[in-house]
Formats: sequence, structure tokens, C-alpha cells
Amino acid sequence: MVALARTQSIAPADDEQSAFEADVLKGLSQQRKRLSPKYFYDAVGSELFERITEQPEYYPTRCEMSILRERGAEIAQLIPPGAAIVEFGSGSNQKARLLLAAAPELAVYVPVDICGPMVEQEAAEMQPDFPSLKIVPITADFTQPFELPKEAVEAPARIGLFPGSTIGNFEPHEAAAFLRNAAKTLGPGSKMIIGADLVKEAEILNEAYNDAAGFTEKFNMNLLVRMNRELRGNFDLDSFEHHAFYNRERQRVEMHLASLKRQKVKVAGGCFEFRAGETIHTESSYKYTPESLAALARGVGWEPAGVWMDNDCRFSIQAFSLSEQPKR
Ligand code: AVJ
Repeated sequence: MVALARTQSIAPADDEQSAFEADVLKGLSQQRKRLSPKYFYDAVGSELFERITEQPEYYPTRCEMSILRERGAEIAQLIPPGAAIVEFGSGSNQKARLLLAAAPELAVYVPVDICGPMVEQEAAEMQPDFPSLKIVPITADFTQPFELPKEAVEAPARIGLFPGSTIGNFEPHEAAAFLRNAAKTLGPGSKMIIGADLVKEAEILNEAYNDAAGFTEKFNMNLLVRMNRELRGNFDLDSFEHHAFYNRERQRVEMHLASLKRQKVKVAGGCFEFRAGETIHTESSYKYTPESLAALARGVGWEPAGVWMDNDCRFSIQAFSLSEQPKR
């Protein structure tokens, strides 16, 4: 689900294709047209996301990596000897690598991703760099509870890892459901380490999602290209534009594709009308404060256990723990 250039070699499966088709038909039929941000990440989109992370305006990836580099040893204190790390949606493992390097007594690493071939390949490439670590990739939809491999079940402790501000793509009720399911999967006494982008001045956010080189715009517009190619669409790229802005009231950056004129578009066997200025809402990227994420986590049983930020307080890594008592 998360960006990785290497997904290029992996063609979309048939059921993935029909899910895309069904979601497009449904999303464009709503009064407020919308599409899930998970469809950004085809081969081209994954590559564009990598470019975004290199842009000077897009701070989240750089800030998160710097926190892991500078505070990794401190964060790793949460990880007792012999523990297992379970990474939800592993994508490219660069952030996990930083944490693993800071936790030499870690015994097991379980990257979990819905894309089986990718998670297997990443794990195989990673193993030689961590010879004493047992790496057990599994294929699962991490938004649902799933069964852990026995190496993780038998470990003395389990630590969830959810970096990259991926949690920001969930609606708050979905983020709560994710944390509730993660608690079920990891079990009593577990911990969770989450990368979350922070609430901040609108100007910094607006620039981060409107980079001057235009990669975020291309990334957003690529959804139209993808629908044209994969779902027989006829979107005219010149009559839509990229909109991204911070919605302060809802503490989220919204991305939209806005129709520049009144028009009809065919895609996936359906025909959809756009008013001039009407948009397709393609992404929400929620921003948190330590307090707002703690409130959400507490609501589903996780207690705050630490917060780390970069020097400019733009991004956070936040830790939570579950009590040892199983919930009845
Ligand atoms: C991968 C979800 C963290 O929300 O910042 C980047 C995706 N969208 N630029 C984010 C994204 C526009 C990114 N996440």
C-alpha cells in the first residue's frame, strides 16, 4: 500500500483491478465525489511519491528520518530484549531499518503488507544486513485483525510500528478502528510506535502539498491518467487541476482534482457530470498534536508512552502501550 518504486515489476492482480473499478464507480456517484488515496500508488504514482519526499517543501519524510536517526536509541528503549517488531504496511523498509539498527537485542521483525511479492522481496533483501534477526514477512490487510507468525507470538514482547504518517490517511474513526485492531493483533502488554505529522501553520502545510517543482500535482493528476488507462476513462487532463490546502477546522490537508468547466466524463462504464469547480476529493492527510493522538488512542485502550519530535517540531514519533491485563 505504501509507496515503493519496486512495485513497478508487479502488475495489479485481477481482483485489485475490479476493486478499483467498483470504488471509482461508487466514489464518483457520490454527491461529493471522492476516491481512496490508496489508488495513487501504481508504479508511476509510487515513483512520484518518492520524488515528493525529496522536495525541499515536503518535510515529513526528512523529519521522521532525522528523529529516528537522532533519537532512535531512546525510542529503542521501549523494545525489550528478545522482542518482536510488527510493522503495519511496510512499503520501503528504510524507517524500520533505522529503528532496527538502534535495537540490537530485537529478535524478530514481521513486516506486514497487503502486497505479498513486495513484502517477501524486501525481507529477502534486508536479511543479510541483519544476520541475527529473524525476519518473517507476512501478507495481510493490516486494517483488519490478523494472526501473527509463531516467532512473534512466542516472543516475550510485541511492538507495533506504523511510520510514515500513514495514519493521517485514515479518517479519525478509521484510525481508532485501526488502533483497536492492532491491540487485538498484538495482545496485552504490547507497545505501538506511530509516525504522525503535526498540526502547524497553514503556510508550511500548503507549501508541502504544492511543491514548486510540481511533483505533488503530477501525483494527484496521475489518478486521472490511471483511470484513463486502466478503466477506459476519457478525462481531459487539461480541464482538471490539482488543489491542495490545509483545512484548519478539521486539522487535515485535503487534496482534490477540480474540474475547470462543466463537463461529462466516461470511466469504468459509467458517465459522470462535473459542475465547473466541482472536485474529486482524493486524499485527506490528518495532522495531530500529541494530545489529539493520545485522546484518540486512549479511547481504544492505548496509554501514551513517549513523544519525540524533530528540532522544528514539525513531525512526531509517538509511543503507546497496552496494559498487561487482557481486556474483558
Ligand atoms: C504517504 C500519506 C504520508 O499524506 O503526506 C504526499 C501522501 N500526499 N503528498 C502524506 C502524500 C501528497 C503522504 N502519506
